[in-house]
Amino acid sequence: MRALKVLALSAALVSMPLIAAAELTFNHTITGEALDLSDAEGADTPAAQHFLETGENLYTEVPNCLAEGEQTFLASCSGCHGHVGEGKIGPGLNDDYYTYPKNKTDKGLFETMWGGARSMMGPHSDLGVDESLKVIAWIRHFYKDDPAEATWLTEEQKANFEPYDAEHPTSVEATGECKVPEGKS
Ligand code: HEC
Repeated sequence: MRALKVLALSAALVSMPLIAAAELTFNHTITGEALDLSDAEGADTPAAQHFLETGENLYTEVPNCLAEGEQTFLASCSGCHGHVGEGKIGPGLNDDYYTYPKNKTDKGLFETMWGGARSMMGPHSDLGVDESLKVIAWIRHFYKDDPAEATWLTEEQKANFEPYDAEHPTSVEATGECKVPEGKS
């Protein structure tokens, strides 16, 4: 009986670090400190789980997800960054230049949103993981420069990507729920 208990306990101890090790570490953009995502909202959707493990955003260029991301961007970010990221008191988010080069990866962009940066750029962790990924997808969608510089896109996405027309901004119409495409995650 006792031996069984010990066995069960050690099995639990062995499996726990394995789960933790599958997740990436996320760091604050300015201080480099690890961000605490243990109580993060919206961390349990397939897209959020996939992102926390790989840093890959499965909502990139998924139309129904872009529509939601745009709404959240308009509510939480556009006041400082402009309607389509053209820049206001906050820097432009629609070109191939970033103050913090890591924002050219979705993991880096997430870290900057989650933990904030300097001055007026406060933390936006209240959005939760899943919603942040939709906002990131929308930010990537209104990118207006050369797709070759879009390090956040896969080769296939680069080949199909149309730079955003910032002079004539258009929304993406949603036709249903935001879902991860079949065969992903
Ligand atoms: C109150 C104004 C304000 C709001 C709201 C705001 N930002 Fe910012 N943001 C700034 C400022 C100012 C900076 C420049 C900070 C710095 O350089 O450290 C910045 C910087 C950034 C950067 C770094 C850009 C670069 O060039 O590396 C990103 C990415 C960013 N913001 C994304 C967002 C997103 C996404 C939202 C909405 C969830 C948001 N911000 C909301 C003011 C704001």
